Amino acid sequence: MNAATAIGIAETATRQGGRDQELAFWKAFVPTERFRLNWCNASPNPELEPEIDFFVSSLAWEIEKSHRRARILDVGSGPVSILRGSFEHLNVDLVCVDPLADEYSDIRASNDLALPVSIMCGHGEQLASMFGPRSFDAVHMRNALDQTANPLSTIRQMLHVARPEGYLLVHGFERQADAQNWIGFNQWNVYHDNSDICVRGLDGIEHRILTIFESLLVPIRVYRRQLSQDRSWCGFVATVR
Ligand SMILES: C[S@@+](CC[C@H](N)C(=O)[O-])C[C@H]1O[C@@H](n2cnc3c(N)ncnc32)[C@H](O)[C@@H]1O
Repeated sequence: MNAATAIGIAETATRQGGRDQELAFWKAFVPTERFRLNWCNASPNPELEPEIDFFVSSLAWEIEKSHRRARILDVGSGPVSILRGSFEHLNVDLVCVDPLADEYSDIRASNDLALPVSIMCGHGEQLASMFGPRSFDAVHMRNALDQTANPLSTIRQMLHVARPEGYLLVHGFERQADAQNWIGFNQWNVYHDNSDICVRGLDGIEHRILTIFESLLVPIRVYRRQLSQDRSWCGFVATVR
């Protein structure tokens, strides 16, 4: 039994197709100059939203001032976390989880990327079996909620491993399932609506994340940004209760 089936994620042809598609993307992207410069060398990564960089680096700085080391989890990190460059000169434990971690390690090795941050193999839906409760000061997910098999279970697990008064940061492209024609991993549309972040799958049922989890989190910022005529971005930053 593999990791996905062990936690009840069906290894459907759709999800297998998603793995192949995602790996093909990163195999082509990792060797590019853009990836080397922005993901592996720049501090911070200029493709990370400045507000998110400012938030996580300020948090790490505050924690360091209190003589502690910040613990930050990036779920669905990809081969190199976009947060990698956000903590220059700060002492931070940046922990990365992705179901394709093993394949990403091979891609990193074949491109001679010897980076200090390694990736643990796991799904957002199984964080509680990987880490203790209240393990992280901040739990971050960029552009990956729409790729999970179960976004609500993933948010619940992220909340479980975040400490009370810690933070949840979730952001990514809006309506990515529509944009990708509902193929591969892209089986959920995530979108901003009326001060909430929603997910909707093929069954058409809308789940309002901030409303569903209102007893467990307090939103600090909920936003939507138009990137171009047909692309937009949305997300939230919240305190964990
Ligand atoms: C579009 S990439 C984004 C990578 C990175 N967060 C970024 O913004 O550059 C989406 C990532 O989500 C991962 N993913 C797919 N299913 C997941 C799940 N159930 N839990 C966590 N991550 C998942 C994929 O393997 C992939 O690395």
